[in-house]
Amino acid sequence: MENIIVGITGASGVVYGQRLLQALSNKPYSIHLIVSEAAVKVMESELNLSLNLNDFDINKFIDRKTHCVTYHHISDIAASISSGKLKTKAMIIAPCSMNTLCSIANGIASNLIQRAASVTLKEGRKLIVVPRETPLTPIHLEGMLKLSKAQACILPAMPGYYLHPTTIDDQIDFVVGKILDHIGIEYLPYTKKGYGEWDYLSSELMIK
Ligand SMILES: Cc1cc2nc3c(=O)[nH]c(=O)nc-3n(C[C@H](O)[C@H](O)[C@H](O)COP(=O)(O)O)c2cc1C
Repeated sequence: MENIIVGITGASGVVYGQRLLQALSNKPYSIHLIVSEAAVKVMESELNLSLNLNDFDINKFIDRKTHCVTYHHISDIAASISSGKLKTKAMIIAPCSMNTLCSIANGIASNLIQRAASVTLKEGRKLIVVPRETPLTPIHLEGMLKLSKAQACILPAMPGYYLHPTTIDDQIDFVVGKILDHIGIEYLPYTKKGYGEWDYLSSELMIK
């Protein structure tokens, strides 16, 4: 099975990481999950979930049983995903804090999320970064530009409104669908609504 790395950091919108893992949990991939300390705090505040980095309960986090996710502690710098020897299809950081984004952009690899991202880039593999912050400073923008120049995909958590989402779930599915679309994985809640097939000019035709 191909490996996909998922990093969840302490930006608002940890629900994107949660939905992404739910979507991947029934696909034939081996998922490697890393969670930052700040992400655990945001999970508590936004999802009302009390989780612990030393014994991270993935089934509790995604509210379903899965056997395809391997959890790695953020301090475990010797984990398999810390080396380019382990072949991976892609790494996704969702949501991505400005702290993590700017660290990676500046070559810092002082925890496992940053190190795995740095390895993904140096091996010429796909890195998808889902930043969440507003407004943005020139420092954040320069970080994004540096990562983009290093071939990372900057995919901000910015749901489109051209298909008239009616629930928060619709908006989360839009972002998660976009992420998976970029690595060629179908996500039915996204494709069923016609995202990706129609541009916003055609969207009027899709709404009945
Ligand atoms: C509830 C909450 C929401 C936050 N939202 C954001 C955010 O949207 N974007 C961001 O860059 N940082 C946000 N932060 C700050 C980061 O968590 C903080 O910078 C932290 O050091 C990031 O660490 P990490 O990159 O290791 O996850 C938030 C913090 C908390 C507690």
